[in-house]
Amino acid sequence: MKNSAKITRRDSLNQSPWQKETFTPAKAQQADLSGVADTVIVGAGITGITTALMLQKAGRKCIVLEAGNIGFGTTGGTSAHLNTFFDTTYPEIESDFGKDAARLVADSGKEAFSIISALVDEYRIDCDFEYKEGFLFSENEKETRQLQTILESSVNAGIAAEKSKTNDVPVPFEMAVRFSKQGQFHPLKYINALAMAFIDLGGIILEDTFVSSSKTEDGIIELDAGGLPIKTANLVYATHIPPGITAFSFRSAPYRSYVLGVKLKDNSYPTGLSYDMQEPYHYFRTHQIEGQKYLIIGGEDHKTGHNDPEQAFANLESYVNQYYQVDSIAYKWSSQYYVPADGLPYIGRMAAAGDSTYIATGFNGNGMMFGTLSAKIISDQILGNENPYTDLYSPSRLSPIAGFTDFVRENADVAWHFIADRFGGEALDAISELKNGEGKVAELQGTKLALYKDSNGKVTALKPVCTHAGCIVSFNAAEQSWDCHCHGGRYDLSGKVISGPPQKNLEQVSLPK
Ligand code: FES
Repeated sequence: MKNSAKITRRDSLNQSPWQKETFTPAKAQQADLSGVADTVIVGAGITGITTALMLQKAGRKCIVLEAGNIGFGTTGGTSAHLNTFFDTTYPEIESDFGKDAARLVADSGKEAFSIISALVDEYRIDCDFEYKEGFLFSENEKETRQLQTILESSVNAGIAAEKSKTNDVPVPFEMAVRFSKQGQFHPLKYINALAMAFIDLGGIILEDTFVSSSKTEDGIIELDAGGLPIKTANLVYATHIPPGITAFSFRSAPYRSYVLGVKLKDNSYPTGLSYDMQEPYHYFRTHQIEGQKYLIIGGEDHKTGHNDPEQAFANLESYVNQYYQVDSIAYKWSSQYYVPADGLPYIGRMAAAGDSTYIATGFNGNGMMFGTLSAKIISDQILGNENPYTDLYSPSRLSPIAGFTDFVRENADVAWHFIADRFGGEALDAISELKNGEGKVAELQGTKLALYKDSNGKVTALKPVCTHAGCIVSFNAAEQSWDCHCHGGRYDLSGKVISGPPQKNLEQVSLPK
């Protein structure tokens, strides 16, 4: 399966350590696309591939359509932690959804963990899967008070957690909590093996196939998949938020997260998984790749299109230098995730799109766990099986109190940009100010343009209006991409969509000579 001549492509310029692992199916796929598939899954990350495998194992005929390649999105850029405690903490879940819900969330996390471990065993997947201890630690009085409530609520929810004398990293701390039975793995080795199992069972995966539209007639969904008409009874969007402007465009906020893969001068690599409680937070773990250990350290997360990505990398570098003897930084990469308005992901049937369309989004920084859980919930719904978590994570849940503050904050931000982007107009004398390798949105002769000057000084111009819902994109210097802060759409320098929800590219504009 390994092919050193190529790497797995990703929606990012910066290479993650996982990308050396590439997907080559053991046998040719019989791509019979005529007739009506039982389920089409859009997106070949952990959510899409696991869902496809579960359904195909149950005898359904599934097709996976992926705009890039397997692991092109967040799965190729995750830091690959497997946790049963989440970015939305148990006290937050308890206070917003109740104690029973907190216990259900804990059960669902344990179930997701068991699914991953069972699939690793069943398919004998060599994906560096390891059980680890997790350490959450506080550095000041306020954090210690919070950590005390996290410990109590986690235990109440049924999670094995206790006070610890160590935090496993050389960062001074006030209090630390140890969570047992956490884990880590190599995400692409894992989903590549699942994808092969899916194909062995007769499943079809089409890479480089962008789904540009869908329509439903007489209960059958017809997709335009890179010019191919594909019909299906069920449709799963495993793409973060679904395409088009839906309620989910306003219920999930896109964030970017930054990670370094660091070689140390000494051997003080952590043995477990550690997390501080700062905002934005930092996390630490170790991964060995081709015989070399790397400290995987991440954080400095911020909302997509806000903050300076290069500054985020610089902050992370100075943070790691504060605590470790750094030999070299072998990897630095970033990826995107979605924060749900009320703290819990949206998984399952998307009622507004009819009975046969399913979504899975708002995983926060816990995508490997919630992606796996989504596969179980959605495949159970399609197969007509009961699932204890369907209502808890339902995309159409009503939670008027839960997360109200966040909901208002995230929506206020989106709404502000909708207005400011359309009617604002700061005149910039842009082209002359642009440095080589720099991009900027500027107003030129009354028209807003996304301008980019390449290393030879050649300027290209795009219409900066995001083709999803009309927000204005901004330049991401670290990734050399145009990012939309409203719902996380991203485009390359030529305006081509890198990640949805937009389905159309940014239009190129001829500059006046
Ligand atoms: Fe929604 Fe840009 S307006 S991603």
